[in-house]
Amino acid sequence: TDMSLIRNFSIIAHIDHGKSTLADRLIQETGGLTEREMSEQVLDNMDIERERGITIKAQTVRLNYTAKDGRTYELNLMDTPGHVDFAYEVSRSLAACEGALLVVDAAQGVEAQTLANVYQSIEHDHEIVPVINKIDLPAAEPEKVRAEIEDIIGIDASDAVLTSAKSGIGIKDVLEAIVAKIPPPKGDRNAPLKAMLVDSWYDQYLGVVILVRVMQGVITKGLNITFMQGGTNHLVDRVGCMRPKLELLPELGPGEIGIITAQIKEVEQARVGDTITTVKNGASEALPGYKEVQPVVFCGLFPVDAADFEKLRESISRLRLNDASFTFEMETSAALGFGFRCGFLGLLHLEIIQERLTREYDLDLITTAPSVFYRIQLRASKTDPAEEIMLHNPADYPDPSRIEKIEEPWIKATIYTPDEYLGSILKLCQDRRGIQTDLTYVGGRAQVSYELPLNEVVFDFYDRLKSISRGYASFDYEQIGLREGDLVKMSILVNGDPVDALSMIVHRGVAEARGRHMCERLKDLIPRHLFKIPVQAAIGGKVIARETIAAMRKDVTAKCYGGDISRKKKLLEKQKKGKAKMREYGNVSIPQEAFIAALRMG
Ligand code: GTP
Repeated sequence: TDMSLIRNFSIIAHIDHGKSTLADRLIQETGGLTEREMSEQVLDNMDIERERGITIKAQTVRLNYTAKDGRTYELNLMDTPGHVDFAYEVSRSLAACEGALLVVDAAQGVEAQTLANVYQSIEHDHEIVPVINKIDLPAAEPEKVRAEIEDIIGIDASDAVLTSAKSGIGIKDVLEAIVAKIPPPKGDRNAPLKAMLVDSWYDQYLGVVILVRVMQGVITKGLNITFMQGGTNHLVDRVGCMRPKLELLPELGPGEIGIITAQIKEVEQARVGDTITTVKNGASEALPGYKEVQPVVFCGLFPVDAADFEKLRESISRLRLNDASFTFEMETSAALGFGFRCGFLGLLHLEIIQERLTREYDLDLITTAPSVFYRIQLRASKTDPAEEIMLHNPADYPDPSRIEKIEEPWIKATIYTPDEYLGSILKLCQDRRGIQTDLTYVGGRAQVSYELPLNEVVFDFYDRLKSISRGYASFDYEQIGLREGDLVKMSILVNGDPVDALSMIVHRGVAEARGRHMCERLKDLIPRHLFKIPVQAAIGGKVIARETIAAMRKDVTAKCYGGDISRKKKLLEKQKKGKAKMREYGNVSIPQEAFIAALRMG
């Protein structure tokens, strides 16, 4: 394709402002979709994505649009994941584009969350095309929103496109604006091949599919390519693009976005951000910006029913085929039996994997408390030399007398919020050991930066932030390295037995409060037994919090007898099912729900 006819862009929008509807309209207008296919939203193609309204994997479609100037353009629409856990993928998707559509709801106006994304896009030197959507709504105030875009975001909105994606108004104008305002890509066709690996996923029929943006040179079928970071060589066997169905092409030239397959077995070999070049006469320098993504949040996953272990192993391996950013290794726990220690990019990533295992593979799981990783310097002991270890699992916490120093990962968080929620947000950050580094106001909205220990963020920080700001605050973070901390292992004992799935590493300063909270929770969550059950939190041998679950009164059980026989049968059935989901600790049964609930710090 003639490069002057290519436009690569993404869409930035606050949740519900109409990104998916607009994307589908653009596809429909340019002939990629029939009316019937339109009824199913195309870009968000996973169930979980649709339910949660988030995009997990970047998807791209190519549209051919014949503009008013009579020329036919190749438009590549890149969908980007919408969550901080996938920030690196987002940055690579943005690096593959020259511009973005900024979709703003004509009745809602600019939302704080959009700001973070717009600024990221501006950092990539994108040309931003404002689109004011939902002008069909009676409450639409396009002129007010136009002024807001200029005041708050600081970009020219005088020729913002007015649309109703729902009723199909203004769609052609959007396409014309893309052609007129977003610059075409640049790149030398005769230079050695440099293509950025934007994303990769596993397809049952095609094997590993790679989404690429060619920066210079050309990719064709039959080419021997090499991944400059990954170091492996492959033979390209398919070159194509998604429309949104796969269409094979003879080549991908400079400036183009498309997909290739190259008989690659595992996504792990195709790392996001890598540079693809040719084996012979390849580029000598890789593209900038490559980063190896490392899991930062860890937890144990155990089958409720020990007999499901093999099924869990298979299911996890299958998921891993499609997602190289998640890691797993076998783990055994005294209480929970055989399971896996898994690593994730963040809490949402964890939830997604957990949900897919539960739903798609029909597994009942127990998830242990999420934790981050720690670097620990150990002194020499009589039997062991001094050494440095990386700790991923509180259960492996070493003998405290050997610990010289523990370091934990810190992040720099940037939060955008309407003014009125600022007070509660500052308090939340303060409670989580945060150090404020910056606070600025942009037209009724605050932007505040904090340095925070990641350990404090993995415990439902994001959910809390959303709930205290009624969904308006947005949160973005980057890791800033390890810092020493006064960290200790807190154990939870039920009836005198430590429950390893509930043990966690905490800062000494917050240990007592956390411990008390956990004991109170468990007191409510663990059903009464025929005897009194103490629930304790302890550091080393020292108990720091304690609650007691009172014994069940005898006559309560008596009530179960007598009465309608079929009802009793039903109850017994229920009990049997419930029992299967309990874990025994000594003589005490803890329902699975109790684990999950206890692990959510309120
Ligand atoms: P997420 O996928 O959750 O990020 O949302 P989104 O930004 O992709 O929004 P989506 O396209 O799913 O639209 C959200 C809601 O707004 C849906 O109920 C749409 O039908 C509706 N909607 C989208 N565009 C318009 C429009 O132009 N006018 C009206 N009245 N409703 C619209």
